[in-house]
Amino acid sequence: MIKVEDLEVWYGKILAVSEISIEVKKGEIVGLIGPNGAGKSTIVNSIIGVVRSKKGKIEMNGERIENLPTHEIIKRGVTIAPEGRRLFPFLTVEENLMMGAINAEAWKKRREVLEMIYSRFPRLKERKAQLAGTLSGGEQQMLTIARALMSSPKLLLVDEPSLGLAPKIALEVYKLLKSLRDEGGITILLADQNARRVLEISDRAYIVENGRIVMQGVSEELLGDENVRRVYLGL
Ligand SMILES: Nc1ncnc2c1ncn2[C@@H]1O[C@H](COP(=O)(O)OP(=O)(O)O)[C@@H](O)[C@H]1O
Ligand SMILES: [Mg+2]
Repeated sequence: MIKVEDLEVWYGKILAVSEISIEVKKGEIVGLIGPNGAGKSTIVNSIIGVVRSKKGKIEMNGERIENLPTHEIIKRGVTIAPEGRRLFPFLTVEENLMMGAINAEAWKKRREVLEMIYSRFPRLKERKAQLAGTLSGGEQQMLTIARALMSSPKLLLVDEPSLGLAPKIALEVYKLLKSLRDEGGITILLADQNARRVLEISDRAYIVENGRIVMQGVSEELLGDENVRRVYLGL
């Protein structure tokens, strides 16, 4: 579905990532793991077109997208639940969701998609009139993901969904992501520092360090790898 080839991104004179090649196939959950500052956000933000690469290409279903404006990339079925959540704290849950109906097509279908989202996220339905800023951290993360779903995406990019959440709540968010793939048919690229959690729910994963991919493979195999266990899982 998405193929990134030899991506290189600079912030001014700072080289953020280079030689990044990753692939996400339809129906997969693919993990992007690495410590803070490794380059995970840079990669997902490049796919959605918020960050521009200096080199490399990004293909979606065989079509080059790296030079398209973000709204065109979204139109092709990519969406992002960004790091830090970026909700509108003084808007209600429902108003935040409506903000995710980001183009004309999504806007036309918004009522129908909203109902679908409410049935999957009953907590958000209960709280639809509540201000987003007053939700708990876990609920805010759910809302961030739900808002991203308002554009009826094929590929969901999720950046640090478990940041700042208690382990139990983070697990709930991860279960939700898995159900979105298993029952909702959504393909997911999941960037998160928590290697264990990502490896437990993903099919394959890439480990990023200092802007480069240092390891990749089937998640189950990575979970069993001696090196990964020592360096990333602290075992
Ligand atoms: N807007 C920016 N300006 C300058 N440097 C940045 C910017 N955003 C990220 N970086 C740098 O790029 C590198 C990768 O960051 P990032 O992609 O956010 O990593 P991660 O998401 O894995 O924590 C880091 O060294 C970070 O300091
Ligand atoms: Mg990040």
